[in-house]
Amino acid sequence: MTEKKAVPSLRGIVAGETALCTVGKEGAGLSYRGYDIRDLAEHAKFEEVAYLLLYGELPNCRQLQEYCTRLKHRRALPEALKQVLERLPRAAHPMDVMRTGCSVLGVLETERSFAQQYEVADRLLSALPGILTYWYRYSHDGVRVDPATEDASIGGQLLHLLGAAPPNPLYEKVMHASLILYAEHEFNASTFTARVCASTQSDMHSCISGAIGSLRGPLHGGANEAAMAMLEQWSNPDEAEQAVLRMLERKEKVMGFGHAIYRSQDPRNAIIKAWSRKLAEEVGDSRLYPISERVEAVMWREKRLFANADFYHASAYHFMGIPTGLFTPVFVLSRITGWCAHVMEQRQNPHIIRPSATYTGPGPRAWIPIEERP
Ligand code: COA
Repeated sequence: MTEKKAVPSLRGIVAGETALCTVGKEGAGLSYRGYDIRDLAEHAKFEEVAYLLLYGELPNCRQLQEYCTRLKHRRALPEALKQVLERLPRAAHPMDVMRTGCSVLGVLETERSFAQQYEVADRLLSALPGILTYWYRYSHDGVRVDPATEDASIGGQLLHLLGAAPPNPLYEKVMHASLILYAEHEFNASTFTARVCASTQSDMHSCISGAIGSLRGPLHGGANEAAMAMLEQWSNPDEAEQAVLRMLERKEKVMGFGHAIYRSQDPRNAIIKAWSRKLAEEVGDSRLYPISERVEAVMWREKRLFANADFYHASAYHFMGIPTGLFTPVFVLSRITGWCAHVMEQRQNPHIIRPSATYTGPGPRAWIPIEERP
């Protein structure tokens, strides 16, 4: 019998069903539960979109108010978790801190039954900004921040705890849009990781810890940080253009470009690019934004490769004073909504995800006693 051919990277394989999101679908583009991403990014608050993803419908006024209050009340971190965070080194990779923080929370507040899944999802959404900033500020500034702030939004809380003063309404607006753009993206690598784990009927914290591990890689969420590291090296657009041409010649990947599903554009790019431009004007930037635009033009001209959601996030986050090492963890603070919603959806399917592999090892061999081995 001939074996079925393996599909490298599962490209084009439909590996399940979801009611959460369409990515690049004819006539639908990128949408969350039927709502176009452009409408959500323009009109909604991130908490509204979190509610939509987790609970299935947009909240009405009362529901949103109650939800924001509920999330606010869940911001405080347990003492034992704070102690762990204080012991993690300043040089730790912030994504390792996120993964560890999530895992420790799972030890201290274990999900004992799937009936608790909404509560666990809300708690993770509320606790993760505190986990990130508590560790970051303690290890870098020796400051013990109190995550249980009164900030109205998750983005506002993040900027506040990172030390932004005074609160800037423009930055908070950009954070809403950014967190909405990053919230959900169908069967991407980290979400699929979470779903594979969920299919074993494991607990929410294990699913999310695994997803954070997948998002850490530079081919996935790590691209925003890698794009910033790259852009920072150049002092003007001409220098950037020459460097990018050399990178392409050496067949190096330029971070923040290309996509596994989209073929001609990433619909999130125009939105975050517009915010990056506005922030550049606000902070009086005359270097990073023009360099970014030139890199984008060169990549399109030379390779027909387009900027993905990560590329202009690099400059946008930089303009708002978010340290580069925290870019991918901020992505986590948003994608936690999509991950949890996918875990809940996967749990409705009783089957474990278990594909097969094409075997490429040696044929059948006779056992060799240890003393006869070379
Ligand atoms: N820079 C330079 N060349 C790129 C590129 C990039 N960012 N992305 C793709 N290419 C090239 C590949 O080298 C390949 O060239 P080849 O045909 O000569 O070998 C071709 O374009 C096809 O790329 P491929 O890697 O097959 O695309 P993919 O669909 O498997 O991968 C990504 C998609 C996102 C993993 C890939 O584009 C990438 O690594 N981008 C940079 C990281 C990034 O921004 N990730 C965030 C995604 S939202």
